[in-house]
Amino acid sequence: MLEQYMLERLEALKGQGMLRAITPKAQNASEIEAGGERLINLSSNDYLGLGHDKALAAEFAETLRGGGVLFSSSGSPLLTGAHPSAAAAAQACEALFPEKKCLFFNSGFAANSGVISALGLIPGTVILADKLIHASVIDGMTSDKRIRALRFAHNDMESFESVLCRAEQDSEQVIAVTEAVFSMDGDRAPLKELAALKRRHPKLRLYVDEAHSFGVYGEGGRGLCASEGVLEDADFILCTCGKALGSEGAFLLCSDTARSYFINTVRSLIFSTAISPVAFLHIAFMLKRLPNEEVRRRRLSSICARVHEAVAQAGFPALSQSQIIPCLTGTNEKALKAAEFFKARGLYAMPIRHPTVPKGKARLRISLNAALSDDEVSRLCKALLELKDQNQEA
Ligand SMILES: Cc1ncc(COP(=O)(O)O)c(C=O)c1O
Repeated sequence: MLEQYMLERLEALKGQGMLRAITPKAQNASEIEAGGERLINLSSNDYLGLGHDKALAAEFAETLRGGGVLFSSSGSPLLTGAHPSAAAAAQACEALFPEKKCLFFNSGFAANSGVISALGLIPGTVILADKLIHASVIDGMTSDKRIRALRFAHNDMESFESVLCRAEQDSEQVIAVTEAVFSMDGDRAPLKELAALKRRHPKLRLYVDEAHSFGVYGEGGRGLCASEGVLEDADFILCTCGKALGSEGAFLLCSDTARSYFINTVRSLIFSTAISPVAFLHIAFMLKRLPNEEVRRRRLSSICARVHEAVAQAGFPALSQSQIIPCLTGTNEKALKAAEFFKARGLYAMPIRHPTVPKGKARLRISLNAALSDDEVSRLCKALLELKDQNQEA
């Protein structure tokens, strides 16, 4: 029965053109090998090209030459997982963010789902999340029937304040959750406005997911909370290490008390084997480099400016304020067609379809990185203009 159900579901997905599969793909930041072809990589989260920099990888490997580095933490952070390398990563992290304490997790997903769940279970708490918030936050909000969670319209401060006013009437604290750069639309949360609302709403706390902004924005790559001057107002900041930092894992920035509380309550931390010592060393190595990567940040910023201009010229709605650029096609079929169209021009960008995004908002999702050459960017801009024509004809 079980296998039969699975087979039928898979057949149905295939019929809808929605069947997903994991296929091995060799890649570096600017190129990817998919289906035997080498294509320009417009789907990577390695926004600065740090993760695929071979010289940097060799430099890190050199630091391991003395030997004695372990590849398994062999236990959760509360057991054997807190290896000295974890302390090295924490030290590098707190050198970058002296305003906060940090707590590492295996991934951004584990951090968001676990921390939001732990926060939501604090008596008198309401979680108030943006409509387009990442699945990891949704999993946290829905992890326990006792959690009270509400949503507000995407980036809409009027909607936010009206839900907030309702929520604060019968709660002790309202934790607003947003993304500094949204993973699908590439737009930014109004961080300053949210922070300003804390003055009028003392029960309001802020949780900002910087998965797509940490490393890319702000002085030293400290992210948008830092560059918008709201680092102090943001009570909880989630940074992932597997995207712009070019490593793996994630960390939460918060107060010392909150850190201790999460160590004692977050199930995805307590009941999971910690990041390996070698990975902690790599995170520390990359965190120390990050402030010096201004050239890569500027390069990415100038690529973004060129591509945003091409997107506008091609007549796509200008949703993006970042290196993540959605080209709305409307239907799932058109998104698939657009990806094929790009592939025929040597460009690899993923179609994002409903139900991942709302119905009618399927898109080709482009994510830019600093390793793209001028020629590769020109090919992308040309393809965007041609794509608009084909989208209109279809
Ligand atoms: C906004 C956002 N938050 C969290 C995550 C999860 O981070 P990780 O990939 O480290 O699990 C993602 C992943 O893409 C994301 O887009």
